[in-house]
Amino acid sequence: MTRLLPERIETPRLTLRPPVPQDAGIIFAAYCQDAAVCRYMVWLPHASVDTTRQFIGWCIAAWEGNAVFPYMLVRKSDARVLGMLDARSTEHGLNVGYVLAREHWGHGYMPEAVRALADTAFLQPALFRIEATCDVENRPSARVLEKSGFVREGRLARYTMHPNLSPEPRDCWIYARSR
Ligand SMILES: CC(C)(COP(=O)(O)OP(=O)(O)OC[C@H]1O[C@@H](n2cnc3c(N)ncnc32)[C@H](O)[C@@H]1OP(=O)(O)O)[C@@H](O)C(=O)NCCC(=O)NCCS
Repeated sequence: MTRLLPERIETPRLTLRPPVPQDAGIIFAAYCQDAAVCRYMVWLPHASVDTTRQFIGWCIAAWEGNAVFPYMLVRKSDARVLGMLDARSTEHGLNVGYVLAREHWGHGYMPEAVRALADTAFLQPALFRIEATCDVENRPSARVLEKSGFVREGRLARYTMHPNLSPEPRDCWIYARSR
């Protein structure tokens, strides 16, 4: 099987690689139970590491399908896991989502990872469009996309449920890079 995306993507400061079971305990401690990190996510903070283990198990299995590509972001200088970036196949491209432990915000790690992922994806002749959505109040996430060369295409009304903010679906920005 030819993979749509490679198992490893290198950036100047990061290696993107598939998850392994040991990552569950690391990301549970680093951010999965952190309400500030989860604020704009589609999931609730994990109550126990068991939830994170289930999630990582699902991520590992997802790599078999060649449609969902969850990457761990590992810092090269000290091999620390900083967060995750995942890409999901769409008709002619990918939809991406990402999260970083709070300790590592503000160093430009996520734009570096998202730009590298998009650059790598566009080496595939079948991929033309990389898109992402974010809550209209999630300024840091919008900045990640702008700094990664994505263009804001519009506002999607009542588009995504962000259960940490409201029981009702919320408006999102949609951003894309295309070739
Ligand atoms: C969104 C996120 C991945 C940004 O990654 P990052 O590597 O910190 O990105 P950058 O360093 O380029 O900073 C992006 C923006 O975050 C904000 N920011 C920077 N440092 C920050 C800090 N310490 N605390 C809060 N926000 C900060 C700024 O608005 C910055 O934009 P600027 O560069 O124009 O000033 C990270 O904030 C995060 O994991 N948030 C929680 C999960 C989430 O919301 N994911 C996206 C769902 S759509």
